[in-house]
Amino acid sequence: METKIFSKDEIDDAVNLLAKGELVAFPTETVYGLGAIATKEKSVKAVYAAKGRPSDNPLIVTVSDINMVKKYAKEIPERAKKLVKHFWPGPLTILLFVKPGALPDAVTGGLDTVAFRCPDDQLTHDLIAKLGYPIVGPSANTSTKPSPTTAQHVYHDLKGKIAGIIDGGATRVGLESTIIDLSVKTPIVLRPGEITPEELSDVLGEKVLINTGKVSDKEVPKAPGMKYRHYAPSAPVVVVDDKNDFSRIKFSNDVGVMATKEILAKIPLPDENKFNLGENLIEADHNLFGGLRYFDDKKDIKQIFVEGFDEGEASLAYMNRLNKAAGGHHFNK
Ligand code: TXA
Ligand code: MG
Repeated sequence: METKIFSKDEIDDAVNLLAKGELVAFPTETVYGLGAIATKEKSVKAVYAAKGRPSDNPLIVTVSDINMVKKYAKEIPERAKKLVKHFWPGPLTILLFVKPGALPDAVTGGLDTVAFRCPDDQLTHDLIAKLGYPIVGPSANTSTKPSPTTAQHVYHDLKGKIAGIIDGGATRVGLESTIIDLSVKTPIVLRPGEITPEELSDVLGEKVLINTGKVSDKEVPKAPGMKYRHYAPSAPVVVVDDKNDFSRIKFSNDVGVMATKEILAKIPLPDENKFNLGENLIEADHNLFGGLRYFDDKKDIKQIFVEGFDEGEASLAYMNRLNKAAGGHHFNK
């Protein structure tokens, strides 16, 4: 199958492909998603196949507005209305009870809840509005690889497997949306993202819990995706929590480093062994997945050291993704 790259002016072509049941990747403010009509079981199943994703890991349903949610959610609780009013369109995914029979089991993985997301991206908004149906929107990467933050990342993973990619340039945030579960007594953040638990708690006016992600193999985790190895390049990743530790690492030509500009300047390695994460945490969020992909494609690199951040709730999302990429492996710990 030829994978077409569409520009912003060609979204009608992308809508036509989706309407026919084909798979088209689309930009959002977080990462690129892999779209297919959420109500067509065959198309939804093709998304799992293209990504190589385990079938018990449910998909996000991407909508153009709250009215679309009403057709597929059992009900919209007050809490959800508050969050939608404040954060949508934006990088917040909300878990609600699904209206029985409204969506194929393949979307929800057979669970009684469904995750709704309304991205802050005009192009994607227009795409869904024109289609008239929500689209599923898992990250458009091969399962276990870092999520794609450019159309080129998507092409790298899925060329020949999907009908098209809409190129909207590099995504703004670079890490996936915050997921909050509102199907439970106390709201809980299942996956940290740009919107922090504190911001959610402020808008809701009540306590918000944070899922630590520690689940044993026997347990069924609330967000099934949490149990899988993720984001990992082929070489092992080590988190460097203390910036002073960069001077203690034994550098050789098969080592890669991902760090902010100032730290990188002092590292005695050739430029191609270094990946610049930028100047601060926000830039590092934006660049993390690109860096992991950069080293994944360099087969001569045998170990990758990546700068950690300790900035409270602001660094929760970055450290969550980095810890997964590293399999929990930290320097000096
Ligand atoms: O920013 C994002 O959310 C991106 C963009 C493309 O929208 N999408 C994304 O989708 O990250 P995905 O499939 O890569 O991650 C969604 C996570 C998975 O860990 C999945 O297990 C969880 O959401 N999830 C989806 N539906 C769920 C449900 N009904 N109950 C619990 N977890 C759910
Ligand atoms: Mg994903």
